[in-house]
Formats: sequence, structure tokens, C-alpha cells
Amino acid sequence: MNLAIIGTGYVGLTTGTCFAEVGHRVVCVDNNAEKVQMLLEGRMPLYEPDLEYMIRSNVDAGRLKFTTNLESAVEECEIIFIAVPTPPHADGSVDLSYIEGVSHEIADALKPGLGYRVVVDKSTVPVSTGGKVYQVIERYAPLGVDVDVVSNPEFLREGSAVHDLMNPDRVVIGSDSQRAMDMMKRVYQPFNAPIVEVDLASAELIKHAANSFLALKISYINAVSAVCEKAGADVELVARGIGMDRRISSHFLNAGLGYGGSCFPKDVKGFINVSEQLGAPMEILKEVERVNAAQLERFLGRIRKKLWVLRNKKIAVWGMAFKKNTDDVRESVAIKLIKRLREEGACVSAYDPKASETGARALAGYDVTICDDMYECARGAEVLVVATEWKQFATANLVKVRELMRLPIMFDGRNIMHAENAVHAGFEYHSVGRKTLGRTNLRG
Ligand SMILES: NC(=O)c1ccc[n+]([C@@H]2O[C@H](COP(=O)([O-])OP(=O)(O)OC[C@H]3O[C@@H](n4cnc5c(N)ncnc54)[C@H](O)[C@@H]3O)[C@@H](O)[C@H]2O)c1
Repeated sequence: MNLAIIGTGYVGLTTGTCFAEVGHRVVCVDNNAEKVQMLLEGRMPLYEPDLEYMIRSNVDAGRLKFTTNLESAVEECEIIFIAVPTPPHADGSVDLSYIEGVSHEIADALKPGLGYRVVVDKSTVPVSTGGKVYQVIERYAPLGVDVDVVSNPEFLREGSAVHDLMNPDRVVIGSDSQRAMDMMKRVYQPFNAPIVEVDLASAELIKHAANSFLALKISYINAVSAVCEKAGADVELVARGIGMDRRISSHFLNAGLGYGGSCFPKDVKGFINVSEQLGAPMEILKEVERVNAAQLERFLGRIRKKLWVLRNKKIAVWGMAFKKNTDDVRESVAIKLIKRLREEGACVSAYDPKASETGARALAGYDVTICDDMYECARGAEVLVVATEWKQFATANLVKVRELMRLPIMFDGRNIMHAENAVHAGFEYHSVGRKTLGRTNLRG
């Protein structure tokens, strides 16, 4: 099938590439000319495992194109996916101006003779947005165009987006038109995934409800981790004991610094906002947000307690990306932590295997030393903080790290380091929801 994807970011680029991989002809459109130029020259505008090679092979096979020309994409393609940003406003409501803008552009590009078109919202939007998109198209498109609007929320995880798209747990398609539903089922037929066929509003709600539930699960185990710290219990053991119950499952039961990224914070906010507007407020999600914010504060408090005064202390931070295997630092808790340390006067050096450029941009003006080697980052530090769960941190040579540091204190904000190895290497090892191990003869 001929598919257009409007918005070539983390979602649009990976989705478009995976559609091409299964045999569709895909045009990826972006209004950022620089990004399109990079892609045309075979350069990557973002990091996502396995994506670069897949893009190249599909471009070579003639199934994947990049352009800034939305009008020609709408002319060529029977299905048009919208994958533009839906960032939060200051009050937590969702900024739908990108969606509105693209809907208007699609309306302008539609011509009566073109034939049937399906416009698919892949961006995460509050319930009832699909109806508004249809309204915009109806209002601004010429009379006689034949269009349906569908909701097809995306559940990929950055860092494993290609795998998630090629092997989805389920595909949610929301439409009030059987004709559009049938076309969408053809798009996804090669993926052999269960398809959840629902009405437009339910599909939109599934996405907000799913992400908010995952955030709730993270906040739940983080709240438990605070109790563990007081009780001298081990949150990792508690999580294992909980997670083996199949009704609960072990996924998203990792205690740490809290959730971040471009989705959970904004989707929880968006769901709170839309539920309030509808008169059925999801009060439970306000507690999810409170626990999430408290998790970072508690962690900072423990570092502060250990060092007494943060001013002029040298702190090395491993990790800037909001999670492993991505260069994305949007709403990254690691970045928030670094900013807080700097605001309190600590000297911070930071390292991330993939997010050094994006991290440096996010930290501009904060005077943070960005290192291109994790050992160099630790040199002279009084505390090492592990803020992102990259595998290479867990397998680091800790004896070497300890020798480079001024004091052997480690704060593992993601519970990924091997505690025994850390202690064996001579560290005083602090983690989340567990006892501090390996108290050395450090004074204090
Ligand atoms: N990133 C994720 O993990 C993820 C997962 C599921 C759903 N989503 C949702 O998908 C949507 C997109 O997220 P993302 O992370 O891919 O965002 P992104 O910022 O990485 O990409 C969005 C792209 O849209 C482009 N764009 C903006 N306005 C445009 C226009 N008028 N015409 C053409 N292109 C335009 C931007 O230049 C950018 O390249 C959001 O609603 C997000 O909530 C994201």
C-alpha cells in the first residue's frame, strides 16, 4: 500500500521504516528541512538501535522516501499517518496545535478527484481529538473529498522501537468506518499481531490509560522502595515476589529515580487534564505524579546527607538519556538531577554513551563537563551517580573507577550495578529501596 507519515521523529521514522520493511511504499514527510536533508544524505537524525541499516536497505529497495512536500505525499498515498508532537501546555493540557496544523495542511492538499483517503492519528492525543481532526478537514477541504479519520495509537518504546513495531503485543485501531477499518487491517496484516478493533474514542483512551497505568506501576514500586528504605527491606526482592504473580507481572516494577521521557510525564498530565474536563477526574494520577517527584527529591536528599554540603563537591553522573539505548533526553530524570546538583553548587561531570550531544544541549548554561569516556568522567569525583540504566555501566571495571575517584561513594539510582562487585571494589554502595552496603572507614 502507499503510506504517508507526517512527522519523521522517533515514532514517524521508525514506524515508516517498519512499514516499508514489510513491503509497503512509504513517504516520510517532515517540515524540518534539515532533518529531511540528513535522511536524504543517509545520515541519522536520531539514535535508535537497528534503525539505520533498515532505513538504508528500504531506501535502496525504493520503498522508503523522505520529503518536505506534504501535498505530493497526500496525492500519492491512500493512508496518511500523523506522527507530530503533542507536547504539554503549562497547565498540563495537551498542545494540539501541531495536530491541528497538519490536519489543515492535509485538508488543503486534498483534491476532489484524488479518491478515498484515510487520515490516521498516530500521535498520542486526548479522547475526542479524532472528531476535531475530521472537523478541520471537512471545514477546509474542497467539497466532494472522501475521507475518514482513524485512531491508531503507538506503543513502541524508544530503545527497542524497531523490535516493538515488528512484534507488537497488539495493534489498536479505532474507527467508526468499516471501510477505513478494513484498509487499516491490510496495513497491519504482515505483522501477524492481534488487532483490537474499537471505536475512535476508545482507541484514543486506550493510549492515555495504558501509559498512565505503566506510570502508576512505576510510582507504586517507588513508593514501596521508600518503605523498604525505612524498614531495612530490599525492594528488588519485594518486586520479584510481587512480579511472579502473573496477575501483576514483573514488568515496570523497577524501583529507581522515577519515570521520565517524552511520553509518561506528558501523558499522565494529559489524562489528568482531559478526565477533569470530562468531569471524571483521575485523582489517583495526581498521587502518581507526587510519588514520582518525591523519588528524585529523596535520592538528592541522601546524596546531600552523605556529603553534608554539595557546593564545590565533584560529582560524576553516568547517564543523561531518559533510559538506556536512546539519545533522547526529553524530560530525562538524569538531566533534572544534574541541574539540581549544579543549582546547589556541585561540580558535575557527565557521561552518556549516546546522549552526549542531546545532553549537552539540554544542559547548556549549566556549566557541566560532558565527558566522552565514563572513566574520565569519574576522575577525582567524590560521588558517582548512576542515573541511566545503560548496560556498560553495570559491566564497568569498578576497581579502576574507584582508583580514579577521590572518595569511593556510589549512588546507583537505577539499581543496575552488581552490589557485591561494588562493595568488593571498595565502594560504599547506595541504591534505591535497599540497605547501604560496604560501609568503608569513610568518616561520616
Ligand atoms: N517517542 C515515543 O516513544 C512515543 C511512543 C508512542 C507515542 N508517541 C507519540 O507520538 C507523537 C510523536 O512523538 P515523537 O517522539 O516521534 O516526536 P518527535 O518530536 O521525535 O517527532 C515529531 C516530528 O514531527 C515533525 N513535525 C512537526 N510539525 C510538523 C508538520 N507540520 N509537518 C511535518 N512534520 C512536522 C517534527 O519536525 C519532528 O521531526 C507524540 O504524540 C508522542 O506522544 C511517542
